[in-house]
Amino acid sequence: TTCRRLLTPAATALRRYYSPTSDSPRNRVAILGACGGLGQPLSLIMKRSEYIAELALYDKVDTAGLCADLSHISTKAAIKGYQGGDQLGDCLTGCSVVVMIAGIRRQPGMHRDSLFQQNATIVAELTDAVAKHCPKAQLCILTNPINSNVPLAAEILKHRGVHDPRRLYGITTVDSVRADVVYAKLTGHPLDKVSVPVLGGHSGHSLVPAFSQAQPPSRLSPEDVRRLTESVRGAADAIVAVKAGGGSATLSVAAAAHRFVNSVLLALDGRQNIIESAFVESDAMPDLPFFSCPLLLGQNGVERNLGVGQLSEYEAELMKAAVAELRVQIEKGQEFGLAWA
Ligand code: LMR
Repeated sequence: TTCRRLLTPAATALRRYYSPTSDSPRNRVAILGACGGLGQPLSLIMKRSEYIAELALYDKVDTAGLCADLSHISTKAAIKGYQGGDQLGDCLTGCSVVVMIAGIRRQPGMHRDSLFQQNATIVAELTDAVAKHCPKAQLCILTNPINSNVPLAAEILKHRGVHDPRRLYGITTVDSVRADVVYAKLTGHPLDKVSVPVLGGHSGHSLVPAFSQAQPPSRLSPEDVRRLTESVRGAADAIVAVKAGGGSATLSVAAAAHRFVNSVLLALDGRQNIIESAFVESDAMPDLPFFSCPLLLGQNGVERNLGVGQLSEYEAELMKAAVAELRVQIEKGQEFGLAWA
């Protein structure tokens, strides 16, 4: 059109950036906790997703401003805002994917586990609403501590008679991204070709990066592996320390969550060979009902758990301690969920 011909190259590039061209998306996606420090950047990136027809943004306060602002971005996803518990049901109705990020975040000196006391009730209430208003949705939980909150949510969904382990995830993608980044930096492999499985849970001692399975493979010294492992395990703490009272990672966590949710959406739409890691109900590890490892995603959610794979001696040793920590945190979530339901 005349109008298009008049655009400068820079304007054309910008237009392409903000106007994805995929076929009509079908999915309505809810973000619960959209207005916080993590919710805002996540809502912004999701607004740009090609695979979302409608974004339903929920929070206790401030959704009108966020939605007005986002609605001035010229991408396909329509924006709908919902504020306060009275509107939660309307927010969730018709959603095929729900991303739960509501809750308080860490300050220096806190472990993720320290958040359980305050966040457990929030997770229980929101999951209960999901069970009621969109029981078939893929429920992706990012509220910490993930190791306890996912088992907690499973109990609530069971109590409501709508539990399907294929549709419940703790988003651990940021751990995979952190492992990919340090591995690519050390080995010189291009970042877009690198993939390092991260197994276990989402806390310093429960996550185990499996550098022995990294792709493309590289021979690393034991000292390198130890250093890389510590840097992945301590990455979140390092950000909390640097922010010095300003909270925990938000932008990198939002980017990672966006990658995960887009993968779920692609799989729902029938795209093949979609693999992401997440913390899910699993029999990958004996006697441990939940575990994070690579998953093949499909139209019903988790299609196949790709399992733990072969671990090095060092990784197997770390895994023992990881399993012990995970067991306690999983049970804590289950007990709370059972009592709450
Ligand atoms: C992260 O991994 O950065 C998040 O889980 C936030 C946190 O408190 O560590």
